[in-house]
Order: sequence, then structure tokens, then C-alpha cells
Amino acid sequence: MKEGIKMKIVKVKDYDELCQWTAKQILQKVRQDKKLHLGLATGSTPEGVYQYLAEDHRKNKTSYRQVFTYNLDEYVGLSADHPNSYHYYMNQHLFQKIDIPESHTHIPNGLAKDLSAECEQYEALIDQINGVDLQILGIGTNGHIGFNEPGTLFGSHTQVVELAPSTRKDNQRFFDSLDDVPTHAITMGIATILKSKQIFLLATGEHKANIIKRLITENVSQDLPASALKLHRNVTIVADHAALSQFDKDEVFGF
Ligand code: PGA
Repeated sequence: MKEGIKMKIVKVKDYDELCQWTAKQILQKVRQDKKLHLGLATGSTPEGVYQYLAEDHRKNKTSYRQVFTYNLDEYVGLSADHPNSYHYYMNQHLFQKIDIPESHTHIPNGLAKDLSAECEQYEALIDQINGVDLQILGIGTNGHIGFNEPGTLFGSHTQVVELAPSTRKDNQRFFDSLDDVPTHAITMGIATILKSKQIFLLATGEHKANIIKRLITENVSQDLPASALKLHRNVTIVADHAALSQFDKDEVFGF
């Protein structure tokens, strides 16, 4: 690990191991601290983590009745019941499968009439709890976290952002066409994310290898939003072999 970088790296074999490891950590926290404030992400990466949490709930009845969740982001213009909204995603993948009260789940409202008031309220919610206890993050191929695209100020709070062309292209796979991908989203800002007490950044697959290499080896810069995580004391990158495949066998990781 490069000197001065405080991020820990957990190396896992493959996607299934990544999901199992992450779900196990979340479950430990939920069992220890029933009133956990948990920051959640959407996208392909955490799907398997949510599957493990749902399976555990079915088998072991781990309870989420006192847990609160805060999602990173939501598309502007999609309703909660739109199949591509992050509200819909969370309901399908997790909330309907565990016993969390709906009133404990927080996702920015991309249909709010006053979007800046919505952002302010969302930020205030996270301020009230002094940041979430644990935030789960994915990483975009352009280095974004949440929808904080390259160039975003590290001091940014929850805000409406324009999605980078590369992000809209990456997310096109969920929509019928590129034109259907929303152009804007509400996202926690980088400063909002850095308020979290602990952060796991998950990366799987060869298509993430380049950005993970950049994240680990490059200096902190606004051109690489995820590099802001190097300013935080408790970040763990959880990455599988494919996502670490741009490192030599013995370099840093020794696998
Ligand atoms: P993905 O998205 O999990 O679908 O790869 C990650 C991200 O864009 O943050």
C-alpha cells in the first residue's frame, strides 16, 4: 500500500466471496447495534450483498426493526415505482425481504417539486445523526462515488448533479435506450459521504480493474472523486481478483 494512504484492502476471490464478506460485516453490525444507521448503494455491485442479507433474514430472522437506512442517490424524474428508480431497486432487492419499517428507509426524492429543498433536507437528516455508521459504496468506471462525477468539489453536500456521458452510457444497460437514461440525479455529496464513520467500497470484475489501480496508486485529486476516501480514517476497499488484475501478482497484494 502506498505510504500515507490509510485505506485498507480486503482481497476476495470472486463476486460471491465479496458479497458474503460484506454481508457478514453488515450482519455483525446489525446484531451489535440494533439502531444502526446504514448507508446503502444501488447498481449491480451490491445486489448479491442484499441477496445474502435477505437469505439471512429468512433463515435466521436477523431483525432490522430498529435499523435506519440512507441511500446515496436517486435519479431526478423517476417515480418510486419506476422500475429503474433506486426506490424500486431497494424495495425489490432488500426492503421487501427484511422487516425494516418503511419509515426508517431514506432515499432522496427525485420527483420533489423543490429539488434544492429536498437536497437540504436530506443533508440535514444525515447531519442529525452525525453521518451514517457504515456506508456501502460502489465505484464508477470514471471514479465516481454516489453520482459525484470527476471534478466534483470534495466539500460538496447533497445536491442535484448532471450525469457524466460515461455514467449514462454505463447505466444504459438498465434502460431501453440511452435517451431513456435520466440526465440528472440527486446524490449525497463527497463531504456527506466522508461524514460516515466507516466506509466499504466494493469493486468486482475486470471492468473495474483500471479505476481500482488508479484509486490505489494515484494521488488525491478532484479528477478522481473516490480518491477523497484517502482523507478518511476508516475506509476498506473490498475487491475481487478481477478488480485487482492490473496489479502484478506480488505487487501490494501478494496473491
Ligand atoms: P455498478 O455501479 O455497481 O453497477 O458497477 C457502481 C457505480 O456506478 O457507483
